[in-house]
Amino acid sequence: MKRTTVSKNQTIQDFGEQWVRYRDNEGYYGSLELFLDILSPFLKPDELKGCKVAEIGSGTGRIVNMLLEAGAENIIASEPSEAFDVLCGNIKQPDKVTCLKITGDQLPAFGDLDYVFSIGVLHHIQDPTPVVEAAFKALRPGGHFFVWVYGKEGNILYLTFLKLLRMFAKHLPHMMLTSLVEMMYWPLVFYMRLCHLCPLPLRRYLLAVFEKMSPQKRRLVIYDQLNPSFAKYYTRPEAEKLLLDGNFKEVRVHHRHAYSWTAIGTKPQL
Ligand SMILES: C[S@@+](CC[C@H](N)C(=O)[O-])C[C@H]1O[C@@H](n2cnc3c(N)ncnc32)[C@H](O)[C@@H]1O
Repeated sequence: MKRTTVSKNQTIQDFGEQWVRYRDNEGYYGSLELFLDILSPFLKPDELKGCKVAEIGSGTGRIVNMLLEAGAENIIASEPSEAFDVLCGNIKQPDKVTCLKITGDQLPAFGDLDYVFSIGVLHHIQDPTPVVEAAFKALRPGGHFFVWVYGKEGNILYLTFLKLLRMFAKHLPHMMLTSLVEMMYWPLVFYMRLCHLCPLPLRRYLLAVFEKMSPQKRRLVIYDQLNPSFAKYYTRPEAEKLLLDGNFKEVRVHHRHAYSWTAIGTKPQL
């Protein structure tokens, strides 16, 4: 059973339990094709060949394996939750990866990384500033910080519905939460099919990403929206400010599938 107060540790615990239950990264959910979609329009997987990179909040390691498939040479994978063992067990080329059981703000100040990635993580951290600072220190001058967060714009109707649902869903034990997910699954699939016919809210995400996932991973996506104790939906200025406040330059922001923000910033040369 979950507690009612939201703390940093509670969100980490929520994910630990989630990833111990949902361990694999099968199909489109863990594919290079999805990675290409996430990176676009700022990066191509090819640009990561031979690079030294870190990922903050690696979960079950799907992004780490995507980075390996893209040709990254040396990867620091960090995950603070009980899913750390799942992460280590899922890594496809362990000789190229160092796993650290740390929170994002504890990422060592390597100072020589080409890229730091934070995909689906900062929106679950109440104060992400120390994490952005740690990413800055870990990069080499000229290195890049790549972030993906949930967006507010384009999601107003969905967020009204989700906020109401999350008020009680995030307190449900696993079994009841999976029943709720099951109740939502078929109406959502029906809605997704309707999106082929009409321009409904979330259409672009549902047709470009969600539809390509297996039924099992679609259920995980719903679970993942309801389970974590803390989730923030960023406006464009908030996403941009995240990196600008961390002293990153050449900050660019993209409204990915009109429902989320990808942002990239560069650590200035000395
Ligand atoms: C939605 S998952 C994303 C996992 C992975 N990046 C992916 O896309 O598959 C968010 C992850 O962030 C981790 N996390 C939560 N709080 C964190 C923190 N303060 N520092 C680093 N990671 C954190 C969680 O444990 C969880 O594994």
